[in-house]
Amino acid sequence: MALIKQNKQIAKNIFLMDVSYDGKIFPGQFFMLRAWDVDPLLPRPISVHDYHDGAVSFLYQVVGKGTRILSELEAGDDVSLVGPLGNGFPDVPGDIVLVGGGIGTAPLYYLLRGHKAKYPDSHVRVYLGFSDESYGDERFSELADDVIVDIGGFITDKVEVKARDTVLACGPDVMLRALSQVVPKENPLYLSLEARMACGLGVCLGCNIETPEGNRKVCKDGPVFRREELGL
Ligand SMILES: Cc1cc2nc3c(=O)[nH]c(=O)nc-3n(C[C@H](O)[C@H](O)[C@H](O)COP(=O)(O)OP(=O)(O)OC[C@H]3O[C@@H](n4cnc5c(N)ncnc54)[C@H](O)[C@@H]3O)c2cc1C
Ligand code: FES
Repeated sequence: MALIKQNKQIAKNIFLMDVSYDGKIFPGQFFMLRAWDVDPLLPRPISVHDYHDGAVSFLYQVVGKGTRILSELEAGDDVSLVGPLGNGFPDVPGDIVLVGGGIGTAPLYYLLRGHKAKYPDSHVRVYLGFSDESYGDERFSELADDVIVDIGGFITDKVEVKARDTVLACGPDVMLRALSQVVPKENPLYLSLEARMACGLGVCLGCNIETPEGNRKVCKDGPVFRREELGL
C-alpha cells in the first residue's frame, strides 16, 4: 500500500492525487490503482501525470464507481499501486508537438517536464482540447514554448506540424484518428490508447486490439503505439 499525500479537486469531476512512491517511471506509463476490497472487482488504470520528490501524481476524472471511491480518499489514507506499467512514450531528442484531449492531457505533463529538462533547447508546442472546462493548462504554459487551448471545438483543427516535429498524443479514440489525418505521414506520430483493462499485466487479454500487424495488448505492448502499428 502507498500513502496518499494529497487528493484535491481542481475542476468539475477532476481530481489530483499525490501518492508516495520511490522508483523509476517513464512518461506515458500507468499504474493500476485500487482502494476497495471486492466492489468494483478490478483495479483501475491511471496514467502518471507527474513524478518528483518521492510522490507520483495522478490527474483523474470521476466517471464511475472506482474513480468516485478514489476521489473520496484523503491525505493519510492508503491506496494500492501496481506499476509502473506499459511502454510509455519514446525519448525524442528534437522538437515535439503534444496533443491532448480531455483527461488524455494527464500523461503529457510528465512527458513535457522530462523532455524540457533533458532537451532545453528543443521547441515544444502543446495543444490541449477540452469539451467544457479547461484544467491544468497553466502548468503546461510554465514549461512549453507554445500552448494552444480549445474548449468545445475540435483541437485537431488547430494542430500545425512542422517538418522536423514528432507528434505525441493522448485522448479519445476519435481525436487520435482525426489527428492521424492532420499529421503528415512523414512526421513520426505516437498515440497513447485507452482500453478497458482487467489485469494491466498482459495476462488476461482483456485489452486486446486488432492491428494490421496482428493482435496487440494495450497494457503491455502499449499504451503508446506508432501510427504505423495501428494502420493510421
Ligand atoms: C492506460 C490507461 C491510462 C488511463 N489514465 C487515466 C488518467 O490518467 N486519468 C483518468 O481519469 N482516467 C484514465 N484512464 C481511464 C480510467 O482507467 C477509467 O476512467 C476508469 O477505469 C473508470 O473506472 P470507474 O470505476 O470510475 O468507471 P466505470 O464504472 O468502470 O466506467 C464508467 C464509464 O467510463 C467508461 N470507461 C471506463 N474505463 C474506461 C476506459 N479505460 N476507457 C474508456 N472508457 C472507459 C465506461 O465504459 C463507462 O461508461 C486510463 C485508462 C487507461 C487504459
Ligand atoms: S489488461 Fe489484461 S492483458 Fe491487458
